[in-house]
Amino acid sequence: MLSFLYSALLALALPRIILGQAKCGLVPPRDSTTPNAKSSTGTGSGSSSSSDGDFADVLANGWYPGWLADDNPPSNISWSKYNTLTFAFATTTSDVNVVALDSISEQALPQFVTEAQAHNVSAILSIGGWSGSMYFSNAMATSQNRTAFVATVLDLVEKYDVDGIEFDWEYPGKQGIGCNTVSSSDSENFLSFLQELRQDPKGAQLILAAAVSITPWIGSSGEPMSDVSVFAEVLDHISIMNYDIWGSWSPTVGPNAPLNDSCAPTQDGSAVSAVKAWTSAGFPADQISLGLAAYGHSFDVSNSNALNSSKALQLYPAFNAGDQPHGDSQDAQAGTDECGNSTPVGGIFNFWGLVDGGFLTTAGTAASGIDYTFDNCSQTPFVYNPTSDVMVSFDDATSFAAKGEFINSMGLKGFSMKNTYLMRKPRNPLRRPTPNQRPNVLEQNFQNQRTPKPSNGKANDKSYGKLLKNP
Ligand SMILES: *[C@@H]1O[C@H](CO)[C@@H](O)[C@H](O)[C@H]1NC(C)=O
Ligand SMILES: *[C@@H]1O[C@H](CO)[C@@H](O)[C@H](O)[C@H]1NC(C)=O
Ligand SMILES: *[C@@H]1O[C@H](CO)[C@@H](O)[C@H](O)[C@H]1NC(C)=O
Ligand SMILES: *[C@@H]1O[C@H](CO)[C@@H](O)[C@H](O)[C@H]1NC(C)=O
Ligand SMILES: *[C@@H]1O[C@H](CO)[C@@H](O)[C@H](O)[C@H]1NC(C)=O
Ligand SMILES: *[C@@H]1O[C@H](CO)[C@@H](O)[C@H](O)[C@H]1NC(C)=O
Repeated sequence: MLSFLYSALLALALPRIILGQAKCGLVPPRDSTTPNAKSSTGTGSGSSSSSDGDFADVLANGWYPGWLADDNPPSNISWSKYNTLTFAFATTTSDVNVVALDSISEQALPQFVTEAQAHNVSAILSIGGWSGSMYFSNAMATSQNRTAFVATVLDLVEKYDVDGIEFDWEYPGKQGIGCNTVSSSDSENFLSFLQELRQDPKGAQLILAAAVSITPWIGSSGEPMSDVSVFAEVLDHISIMNYDIWGSWSPTVGPNAPLNDSCAPTQDGSAVSAVKAWTSAGFPADQISLGLAAYGHSFDVSNSNALNSSKALQLYPAFNAGDQPHGDSQDAQAGTDECGNSTPVGGIFNFWGLVDGGFLTTAGTAASGIDYTFDNCSQTPFVYNPTSDVMVSFDDATSFAAKGEFINSMGLKGFSMKNTYLMRKPRNPLRRPTPNQRPNVLEQNFQNQRTPKPSNGKANDKSYGKLLKNP
């Protein structure tokens, strides 16, 4: 148990440990970045180029949802938990010379960068996302467009003074939302673009990253590329989006963010399969960040499907796809997406939403009247409200601990948390959370579970080990 909690602490309180170090005079991130990208990412509070150079390989990253900045301003980010934060999203446009920000994001980004600098956290701007990837293919298509897009990206960097850029292209060589431009040359063009960006003296100084799916980019054959090692020469890191693996589109309820699937009834992907796929294609483990989800997906499940005769919550039950339950108060409403297709409600519960919704206590355990089970293969929990018929697949301290251990044992670069917002403005003052409900459950768990370090001070991983040696 101790090692469980211990690795939870490593995975999520890690940035805190780093921050402790940062105070002893680390030089700013940019100084250590080298053109061929073996530089440190996530140098913010604490990595890179310190005289002892111990933290260069650790990434404690999260995505900040810029479009929600009105409710979750940058000043309310838990900065001390990260050494890198990625502002999501700037979006591609039909003009290769223009990358767009919605009006809320445009207002929030300068504040985000100022706050990041004040906290010694590297600020990365992410371009793309599910609904912002429409024109990547065009922007990368010809040598002329790539040169123009390099200039567009560098202008953006200069305008907002960010430390790096993440390309969240969903997806090169493969349709995402439904109306993206797509070409079989996308991945090849993406590489040429990244190389050109890196060759620019300003581009050489940047942290360059990509958010990626659980299999490597699709090559010209239409299949995942078997060798992506050359991308690792120009990118500092990739963040594997190991979430939304199961959801309302799946045949049954299943894990949002499975750690493992090789032991599952069907193989739908997981951190285990994703890291194997990327490293087998030549992407070095120490440049891979594991994407984590600070939220869960909801499903409508009848009592008879959810519970067996001994009233134990079952895994992979059938659900009613026609009745997607609402998530928390920040959940996306049903509507029309950027392609003009209608979309159902999101069904997303953030941690605070699971507490507000009566599923979890503020300590992160199942609330009274809520059924709970832990899937030993995906190593993720599920909760079920037998009155409302809502079942939620999510992550908790135990599942994050398992992922932290996995990050350690595989020698990965670190983690990327979706999403970083930890506070919210109560929309209905009558439902104003009490002060100790405000930090989300995740944060609270790790405050509550500040377990003593194991006396031998050993961690599995080199970087973590070093951190612990220099508390
Ligand atoms: C940031 O780094 C500077 C210089 O290393 C240090 O003086 C300052 O205290 C750090 N700030 C935070 C919030 O860690
Ligand atoms: C190059 O970019 C322009 C937009 O600025 C776009 O109209 C054009 O289609 C792109 N070229 C290709 C081959 O996609
Ligand atoms: C994943 O499952 C397989 C098969 O049960 C097992 O051998 C392996 O150790 C598991 N890996 C992790 C990280 O849980
Ligand atoms: C109900 O499910 C639990 C957990 O999956 C299992 O341990 C138990 O044996 C099941 N009970 C019956 C009656 O099938
Ligand atoms: C998972 O493993 C634990 C400990 O071995 C066990 O108590 C629990 O019943 C298992 N969960 C399921 C759903 O089988
Ligand atoms: C931001 O945090 C402060 C306390 O740290 C709180 O008073 C304020 O309401 C928060 N703002 C929002 C919009 O959540």
